Amino acid sequence: MVPSFFVGAILALVASRPTPAMAQTSYVSASPAANTTGAGTLSPILSPSFAGMGIEPTNLIAYTGQGGQRNELTYNLMMNLANMTGVPPHLRIGGNAGDRMIYQESYNGTNWSYNPSSVGVGNTGGKVDQYLFGPGYFASMDLLPSDTPITYGINLAYTGSDSAQLIVNQATAALDQVKNVNIVGFELGNEPDLWVQNGYRSQGWSVSNFGDEWAAAVQSVYNNVLAPRNKTSNFFEPPTTATTATSAGKPFRIANLVSTGVAVDNGIYVAGWNQHDYYYYVNVSGYTLTLDRLLDLSTTVKQFTEWAGQAQQALVTGKPYYLREMGSAGPTGLQGITNVFGNTLWSLNFFLYAATVQVSSVQMHMTSESYIAPWQPQNQAGFSAHVRTSYYAWAAVDQLIGGGCNTRVASVDLNNVPSAYENRVALYATYDGVNLDSLVMINTKLAYESSQSSAGNLVFSLSLRSLAGRTFHLSTLTAAGVDSTQNTTWNGISYEVSGNGLPTVVDSSDNTVKVGQDGSFSVTVRDSQAVVAHIDNKLGSANTIDRDACDALAKSIAEGQSASPTGTSSGTTSAPTFRSTQGFQNGARPAVGMSTLGPLLLATLTVAAAASIMPLVILLP
Ligand SMILES: *[C@@H]1O[C@H](CO)[C@@H](O)[C@H](O)[C@H]1NC(C)=O
Ligand SMILES: *[C@@H]1O[C@H](CO)[C@@H](O)[C@H](O)[C@H]1NC(C)=O
Ligand SMILES: *[C@@H]1O[C@H](CO)[C@@H](O)[C@H](O)[C@H]1NC(C)=O
Ligand SMILES: *[C@@H]1O[C@H](CO)[C@@H](O)[C@H](O)[C@H]1NC(C)=O
Ligand SMILES: *[C@@H]1O[C@H](CO)[C@@H](O)[C@H](O)[C@H]1NC(C)=O
Ligand SMILES: *[C@@H]1O[C@H](CO)[C@@H](O)[C@H](O)[C@H]1NC(C)=O
Ligand SMILES: *[C@@H]1O[C@H](CO)[C@@H](O)[C@H](O)[C@H]1NC(C)=O
Repeated sequence: MVPSFFVGAILALVASRPTPAMAQTSYVSASPAANTTGAGTLSPILSPSFAGMGIEPTNLIAYTGQGGQRNELTYNLMMNLANMTGVPPHLRIGGNAGDRMIYQESYNGTNWSYNPSSVGVGNTGGKVDQYLFGPGYFASMDLLPSDTPITYGINLAYTGSDSAQLIVNQATAALDQVKNVNIVGFELGNEPDLWVQNGYRSQGWSVSNFGDEWAAAVQSVYNNVLAPRNKTSNFFEPPTTATTATSAGKPFRIANLVSTGVAVDNGIYVAGWNQHDYYYYVNVSGYTLTLDRLLDLSTTVKQFTEWAGQAQQALVTGKPYYLREMGSAGPTGLQGITNVFGNTLWSLNFFLYAATVQVSSVQMHMTSESYIAPWQPQNQAGFSAHVRTSYYAWAAVDQLIGGGCNTRVASVDLNNVPSAYENRVALYATYDGVNLDSLVMINTKLAYESSQSSAGNLVFSLSLRSLAGRTFHLSTLTAAGVDSTQNTTWNGISYEVSGNGLPTVVDSSDNTVKVGQDGSFSVTVRDSQAVVAHIDNKLGSANTIDRDACDALAKSIAEGQSASPTGTSSGTTSAPTFRSTQGFQNGARPAVGMSTLGPLLLATLTVAAAASIMPLVILLP
C-alpha cells in the first residue's frame, strides 16, 4: 500500500508542473486573386446595412425603449455599426406576432396589450387580432438611430370585414408617424405557408389564394398610401417561406410565386424576396445541436442549398433576395451554444457565406429573451442588459464593408487542408471596387477556455505574386475560448468594457505582415479565432463614408443588388418590373444536387407563448 503522503506529494508535483506545450501547428495554403478578374463568383455590392437584425414586433419596446426614453445599449450598439458603414443595420420588424396585431389610432399606450374583444380566427397559437397597439408604438420605433432602414410587417392574416381598411390604416400610420427612422418596405403577412395550420385560413387555401390576397392588398396600399406620398410601387417583399424547400410542389419557390398574384403588373410592387429560415430549431430539428456541429462549416452549406438556389431564381427576376429572419438556433437560442464565442465565428462565416451565394441582406432575429440576439436589451432572467459575444461578428462584417459602398466578397479555395481542419476553415476575400481589400481567415476548430494553452495554430500560407512588397495589417476576432460568453475583442476593441455598448480600444497594437518578393506570406490563426488581413493599413483606420457612392448604390437598389445570376455586376439599375419570369433552374444550385442534401426533414411547430412568437418551420441539414 502506498503511503498517503506519497500520493499527495506526487499530485502536488503534477499540479505544479507547467502545462506542457502541446500546441500543434498546421498549414493550409491558398492563392487569392488580387483583383476581381480572377476572383470567381462575387457577392452583390454589400449594402451598408447588409448585416442586420430582426425584432419580433411584440418585443420592439424592449429593444427601443419607450415614452421618449431610448434604450441606450441598443442605440449605441446600432450607432457603432452605423459609424462604420454610414447607415445603421437594416431591421426587419415582423414575425408571427405581426399577423396578430391590430393598429388603433385611439390606443394610447406605448407598448401593445391584449385585445379584450378579440374575435379573429386562429388556433391555440394565437388569434389574428390578439394584440392592440397605437401611435405610441411608432414613437418607440423612432427612438432608434436616424435613418435606420426598416422592413415593417403588416397584418395580412386578419380576415374581419374591415380588414382592407385596417391594412391601409396600419401602412399609413407606419409611414406618417415615424420621422426619424426610415421604413423602406412592407412585408404583408408572415409565413403564409403556415396559415392553414395556424387556423388563419381553411383547408385547401393555397399559394394562389395567397397571391390573390397579396395582390389586392399591395394595390390598395399603393393607391391609398404610397402613391399620394410619392413612394415607388416596389415597396413590398413577398414571402418565399421556410417550407419552400420541402413542401410538395414547392409552392412558395420564386419560380412558382411568379405564377400567382404576386406577379401582378409584372412585379412592379416587388422590392425583393423575403426569405426566413434558421440553421437549427429546437424541438423541430431531428438531432441535438452541439457547438462542434454548428462549427462544421459544411453543415451551413448543406442547410443553405435550397436558399442558394432561390437566390439564383431571385436574380432571374431581377429582384434582390433577402434573408429577413435567420438565426443559428430558433426560437430563442441555446445557452452554451448561441451565447458563446463559437456563435460569433458561425455568424461571421454565415454573413460572408450568404453574401457569396447572392443574399443581399441578412437579419438575425431577436426577441427580448433570446440567446441568439447579439445583445440582451433589458434586465431579464437574472441578467442585466449586456452585449453578447456574437455582436462582434456584426462589428467585423461592418468594418469589412466600410463606408465606400463598393465592397464585394468572394470565397477563396483552400489547398492542402489538414484532415483535422476539414470543414473547420474558411477564407474569404473582399474587394473594394476591383482590388483586393481584405482576406478573412476563419478557423473554427474547437479550442475551449480551459485548454487555451494547448490550442492549435493554423498557418495560412498565402501567395499573391502581384502584391509583392506590400503590407497587410492584421485584425483579430478572439476570445479566451470557443465557449466564452464574455470578453470577446475584435480589432482590439471591446464593446463590453464601457458598460453601455460604446467601443473601448483595449489593444492598439498594429501587427503587420509583408508580402515577400515571391508573393508569399503567412498568417497564423489560433483554433477558434478569425483574423482579417487588410492591405496597406489597419482595417477601419482610414475609413471614410463615401456619400456619393452610397447614394448611387441606394438609388440603384436599396440593398446593392448585382445584376446577373452569376453575381457579376454590370452596374445596371433594376427595373421595377420583373426582368424575367422564365428560365429558372430547378432551384438547387447546379453544383449541388438534391441527392447531396441527405435526408431532408421538415417539421412544423406551433409556439403558443405570446412572447416567443416565432416562425415555425425549418429545413435541416
Ligand atoms: C489583376 O491581377 C492580375 C494578376 O493577378 C494582373 O495580371 C492583372 O493585370 C490585374 N488586373 C487589373 C485590372 O488590375
Ligand atoms: C409590453 O407588454 C407586454 C404584455 O403586457 C409585457 O409582457 C412586456 O413586458 C411589455 N414590455 C415592456 C418593455 O414594458
Ligand atoms: C459615431 O460618430 C460620431 C461622429 O464621428 C460620434 O460623435 C459618435 O460618438 C459616434 N458614435 C459611436 C457610437 O461611436
Ligand atoms: C388611455 O386609455 C384608457 C382607456 O381607453 C384610459 O382609461 C386612460 O385614461 C387613457 N390614458 C391617457 C393618458 O390618455
Ligand atoms: C409628388 O411629386 C409631385 C411631382 O414632382 C409634386 O408636385 C408633389 O408635391 C409631390 N407630393 C408629395 C406629397 O411629395
Ligand atoms: C421543447 O420540448 C420540451 C419538451 O416537450 C419543452 O419543455 C420545451 O419548452 C420545448 N421548447 C421549445 C422551444 O419549444
Ligand atoms: C472580463 O473582463 C473583465 C475586465 O475587463 C473582468 O473583470 C472579468 O472577470 C472578465 N470575465 C471573464 C469571464 O473572464
